[in-house]
Amino acid sequence: MIIAIDGPAASGKGTIARRLAQHYGYRHLDSGLLYRGVGFTVLQAGTLGERATAIAAARSYDPARFPEEELKSDEVAQAASIVAAIPEVRSALIALQHEFARSKPGVVIDGRDIGTVIAPDAEVKIFVTATPQERVRRRILELRGRGGTVDEAAVLADIEARDDRDRNRAVAPLRQAEDAVLLDTTHLDISSAVRAAIDIVEAVRAGRRPA
Ligand code: C5P
Repeated sequence: MIIAIDGPAASGKGTIARRLAQHYGYRHLDSGLLYRGVGFTVLQAGTLGERATAIAAARSYDPARFPEEELKSDEVAQAASIVAAIPEVRSALIALQHEFARSKPGVVIDGRDIGTVIAPDAEVKIFVTATPQERVRRRILELRGRGGTVDEAAVLADIEARDDRDRNRAVAPLRQAEDAVLLDTTHLDISSAVRAAIDIVEAVRAGRRPA
């Protein structure tokens, strides 16, 4: 069983994916961490913009090498979305995702191209969205929660730049798969959003059209 969750930054897809995995006893893969790992490597090497370094980092990718906390910054997120537009970086990370997708009894994978490219045959596909204003608001709350000072204009610029890059790249752009169910979380708190996602999974499994 594969549940594919795609959507833009701060749409709520990561939390929804994690909670769905807990609910069903499935394994969860946050595929954004793979691109963040590659982005982090090229940032550390001072070679952001050099395709060859990014491709080499993706080809020798070792998930155990990156402490998750280091990958959470906006700087790494921007670097991730730059390297994620390189076709060879994406193809180097496919095998890892396919292998994960075979885990039993099932998996939840979240990202940008899971329902369209990585697991087009996923039994359940959900495309999670929220308005840009709401996504910026959530990101600001998250950053404040971590105790830093927050430049609101910079957060907006970061989200807009990533949305633009992720939607308009030539390979595996962010888009809703034709058979994905849209879940707009703009007016939902996290527990309502998770409830709505579980309802979608149950409806699809029962062969019903989600409401
Ligand atoms: O989901 P997250 O914000 O961690 O992703 C960071 C970046 O990685 C995204 O902005 C996107 O460019 C890239 N990404 C991707 N394909 C995925 C997951 C993430 O291109 N499946």
